[in-house]
Amino acid sequence: MTVKINFDEQHQIFHLTNQKISYILGIEEGQLLAQLYFGKKITSYHNSRRYPRLDRGFSPNLAGQPAEIDRGFSKDVLPQEYSGNQTGDYRQTAINLTDDVNGASAADFRYADFKIVSGKPHLKGLPQTYIEKRDEAQTLIIHLIDATLRTSLYLSYTIYDQRAVIIKSAKLVNNSDRIIRIDKIASAQLDLPKNNCDLISLYGAHVNERQIQKNELPFGITEISSRRGSSSHHFNPFIALVDKHISETSGEAIGVQLVYSGNHQFTIEKDYIQQLRIITGINEYGFNWQLAPTAEFQTPEVIFAYTDKGLNDLSLTYHKLLRERVARGKFKYAKRPIVINNWEATYFDFNATKIKAIIDKAAPLGIEMFVLDDGWFGKRDDDKSSLGDWYEYVDKLSDGGGLANLAKMVHKKNMQFGLWFEPEMISADSKLYRQHPDYALTIDNREMTPSRDQYVLDFSRDEVVDNIFNQICQILDTVKIDYIKWDMNRHLTEVYSHALNNTQQGEVYHRYMLGVYDLAERLVTKYPDILFEGCSGGGGRFDAGMLYYFPQSWTSDNTDPIARLKIQYGTSLAYPLSSMTAHVSASPNHQTGRQTSLAMRAGVAFAGVLGYELDLSKLTDDELKTIAMQIAFYQKHWQLLQYGDFKRIKSPFEENEVAWEFVSANQEEVMLFNYRILSEAQPSFSITKLTGLKDNYLYQETTTHHQYYGDELMNVGLYDAPVAKQDFTVTIKHFKKIK
Ligand code: DGJ
Repeated sequence: MTVKINFDEQHQIFHLTNQKISYILGIEEGQLLAQLYFGKKITSYHNSRRYPRLDRGFSPNLAGQPAEIDRGFSKDVLPQEYSGNQTGDYRQTAINLTDDVNGASAADFRYADFKIVSGKPHLKGLPQTYIEKRDEAQTLIIHLIDATLRTSLYLSYTIYDQRAVIIKSAKLVNNSDRIIRIDKIASAQLDLPKNNCDLISLYGAHVNERQIQKNELPFGITEISSRRGSSSHHFNPFIALVDKHISETSGEAIGVQLVYSGNHQFTIEKDYIQQLRIITGINEYGFNWQLAPTAEFQTPEVIFAYTDKGLNDLSLTYHKLLRERVARGKFKYAKRPIVINNWEATYFDFNATKIKAIIDKAAPLGIEMFVLDDGWFGKRDDDKSSLGDWYEYVDKLSDGGGLANLAKMVHKKNMQFGLWFEPEMISADSKLYRQHPDYALTIDNREMTPSRDQYVLDFSRDEVVDNIFNQICQILDTVKIDYIKWDMNRHLTEVYSHALNNTQQGEVYHRYMLGVYDLAERLVTKYPDILFEGCSGGGGRFDAGMLYYFPQSWTSDNTDPIARLKIQYGTSLAYPLSSMTAHVSASPNHQTGRQTSLAMRAGVAFAGVLGYELDLSKLTDDELKTIAMQIAFYQKHWQLLQYGDFKRIKSPFEENEVAWEFVSANQEEVMLFNYRILSEAQPSFSITKLTGLKDNYLYQETTTHHQYYGDELMNVGLYDAPVAKQDFTVTIKHFKKIK
C-alpha cells in the first residue's frame, strides 16, 4: 500500500501522500489549522512553507497578553483549513454559527486532537465515495473545538491508494446544553498561495447543459452556485482551478467536485495579497439548521483532484473514481442496454398499438430495451395532471391489455422493459393532492408558484417519502420492470414544510435532498436488479450525488448532435462516459430544427451510453438497415465506448473540427471520432494527433488496414480528411495493436 498519513510530532505537521499527490497541513500558532500544500507528491516536508510574518494594517491578530501579541500573525491572511466567522478572518468563511441563547454570531475552531483510521468511515444518509478494501484508503480525522460554543468540529480527509484525490467533509457536534444555529457549514475549504490560475466552470440551462467557461479570477469573490433546490442545469457542482495555459495534455489543475445534488455553493476568493480561498458545500442561501444539544450535522463530501498533466488527466481521475468508487450495484461495470424510448416518438400521445409498432421494429434491429416514458399513470395525457398518482392509467394501454401485458410482450421479444417516474412531484390535478394538499411545498396564504404546471412534494417529510415509495413498489411488484428513469422537471419554490416548526424552515432544502436520497437508497436496495437512470429535464441533476444511486443519467433533453458535441464534451470534464446517456432522435431535431444524417446522430451518440428515441415505425427500410448496422457496431465496441479512457482532442468550443478518442486500458485498442461541423468552400486540412497510445505499439486501422506506430499517430497525426461538401459529418477510425 502506498497511501500514508504521517504526523510529524515535532513540527506539528500532517502529510497525506500516495504515489501521486501530497496534501500537507499543520498546526499553527494559537492551534489554528493551516493549509500548507496540495499538489504533486513530495517525499517529505521540511517546513519549506513556514508562513511569513508581517504586520498588516487592518488584519487583526490573535488574542493574548499585550506583551505576547504577535502583530505579524493574522488569521486574515493565513492559509487555513476551515475558517470561522467574526473572529479575525474577513475572507469567506467555511462556517457561520450563532449561539441561540445570546444571539451572538461567531465561530473560532482550534485544533484539539486527531485520529487516523484505515479505510473510510461511512456517512449515513448521504451519497459518498466508498472503499472496497480496507487498505485502499486511509482517513485522517482532525478534531477542533470552539471552546465558547462547546462545539466540536471533525474535519475528515481520505486519501486513496493510487488516486490523485483527497476527499474532505466536516461534521459538527454540539456538546453544549444550548441550541447552536448553523447559518453556514461548508464541506471543505482550500486556501492556495498567490498564483495566477484561471477558473473553469460548467454553466448552462435546460437543453444547453455543462458549457465550458474559463475565466480569469478577479480580486474579490467569484461564486458558482445553485439556489434551485437541485444541482441544476445552470451551474454544475464542479469547478477547476487551472494554469492559464492549461491544455488537455499539459499544465496543473485542481478539480473540486461536490458529492451533492441540492443547493450548492462554490466561492473562490482572491484576497488582498492575491491568495486564493476556495470554499464549497451546501449553499448558505435559504439554509440554517438548529443543532440541538448532543446532535451532529454531517456535511456532504467534496472530491479534490490534482494533476500536473493537463485537463484530460484530471477528467480521467474523476471518471475512474466516480465509476469505481461512487457508482454502486451490479450495473457499475455492466454493459448498459441500448434502449428505444418513446418520448420523442409519441410524447403523451400513445396507446399500446402505437407502442407495439415501435417495439416490433426495434426488436429485430438488436435494440435491447423499450422504455415507456411519461404518460402511463393516473390520467395523464399532458403535463398538467396526475403526478403523485403512481398507478396505471388503465384506459391508455387497454388496447394491448394494460401495462403488465405490454411488459410481457416486450419480454417475449427478448427485450427488457423500462418505465418512467417523477417521484418528487405532484400535480394539483391529482388524487394525491386532493387527499394531501399539505404534501406539497407551500406557504399558507401565499399562491403556489407553478412550473411546467406542477409542484414539488415535501420530501423533508418521512410520510411523503413513504407514500411514494409504497406506490412505486406496488407497480414494481406487479409489473416486470428492468429499468427506471427517475425524472424531476421543475425547481423548488415556497420551500416551507408544514411538518417543521418556524425555527426549522431553513432546514427544508437540505432535508428535501435527504428525503430524495432516502427514497433512492430504499429503491436501489430493494430492487438491485433494476437499472436506474437519473434525469431532470435532461441533465438538470447530473452530479456525483445522484451517481451514487443511479449509475447513468440522461445527459440533456437536447438530442441534436451538434448541440450534444458541446454538452457531452463539457460533461466529460467531470463525469465518466458510462454515466452519460445519448440517444439518436429524429431529423429535423425537435429542439433545434436542425437536419443531420443518421450517421452524424449516431456518431455523437456512440460517445456514451447509446439509445434511440424516435418513431421507428416511420423510418424507411434503408434507415432501419443503417440503424441495425449502428447497433452492431456499438455491440462490438461497447466496452471501449462505455468504459475506455476518454480523451478530448479538439474542442467544439474552439473549432469547427472536433475530435475525441477512446483508448482501452491496455492501450491496445483505440477509437477516434472526427467531426466537422460546417462545410467550407476552402476547408483547412486539419490534422488530429492521437493521444494516450504506446509509442512502440504497431496499430492497424481495422477498415483500411493501414499500419502506424503509436509515436507516429501521436506526433505526426492523421489528416481529418476526407472532407465532404456537406455540413455535420463524422468519421470514425478504429485501431488495434497488431500482436
Ligand atoms: C423530461 C425528460 O428529460 C424527457 O426525456 C422526458 O422524460 C420528459 N421529461 C417527460 O415528461
